[in-house]
Amino acid sequence: MTDTDRELLRATFGEDAELYDHARPGYPDQVFEDLVRLGGLSPRSRVLEIGCGTGQASRPLARLGGTIIAVELSPELAAVARRNLREFRNVTVEVSPFEHWTPPTTPFDLVISATAFHWIDPAIRVDKAADVLRPGGTLAVVHTEHVAGGTENFFADAQACYEAFDPRTPPGLRLTPAADIPDDPIEVAPSARFGPARFRRYEWEQGYTTGEYLDLLMTYSGHRTLPRPAGDGLLACIANLIDRDHGGQISKRYLTRLTMADRAA
Ligand SMILES: C[S@@+](CC[C@H](N)C(=O)[O-])C[C@H]1O[C@@H](n2cnc3c(N)ncnc32)[C@H](O)[C@@H]1O
Repeated sequence: MTDTDRELLRATFGEDAELYDHARPGYPDQVFEDLVRLGGLSPRSRVLEIGCGTGQASRPLARLGGTIIAVELSPELAAVARRNLREFRNVTVEVSPFEHWTPPTTPFDLVISATAFHWIDPAIRVDKAADVLRPGGTLAVVHTEHVAGGTENFFADAQACYEAFDPRTPPGLRLTPAADIPDDPIEVAPSARFGPARFRRYEWEQGYTTGEYLDLLMTYSGHRTLPRPAGDGLLACIANLIDRDHGGQISKRYLTRLTMADRAA
């Protein structure tokens, strides 16, 4: 992806912050339990979250206590995040691209980024995360991807909709089983700034009605940037499949991966 593409695509999430807020799922509770256990997170921890969206990971993090600063690119998403997090006096949401954000002088114990680290400039993200961590502090990167499972016939049939309406679709694409997706330290360990990576994986399913699923699709940068007639055609094709063949309800299977590495001394 070029720098220009990345900057265009990452700006799409804030175009409809309320949609993002109600349509995007959060993460399994076990992710946050593992962060406490493996990342040494405690009510005394100082946590930096990069790209908080409307608070999908920030809310469970905030419940764990600690001081949380969340840095978010989109003022619209940050405004909804502040609303969602208003009961937590331990959370501050700052609007800035992480690349240009000025950190406080006190270092952090944990830097976490949930479904957002890959949107940060790859030439900057790992070193800047290391710079703001104390020695021994942890960088935690959470990724979620769509994997084989759930309502499998629907996803196999939906491929024809993508091939008809989205020219970027590779022909014959099929979902990958979670077991075939390897752990990948590349995002946290391409430099000598971090020790060996630790991995945890979580598989889970979420049910969607037709309307909920179309809303979810419209939170993805790829769908948001599809030109209008093709985008509308794609959504109509998918809605028709869910209503006609699946009684208006499908299930989607996710793999969430947590990758952690500690800053070298
Ligand atoms: C896919 S969303 C993930 C949001 C949320 N963390 C979640 O788990 O749903 C990516 C988020 O990263 C933010 N983002 C993208 N580039 C950023 C940057 N350079 N600095 C800070 N935030 C950024 C986007 O605005 C968006 O909120």
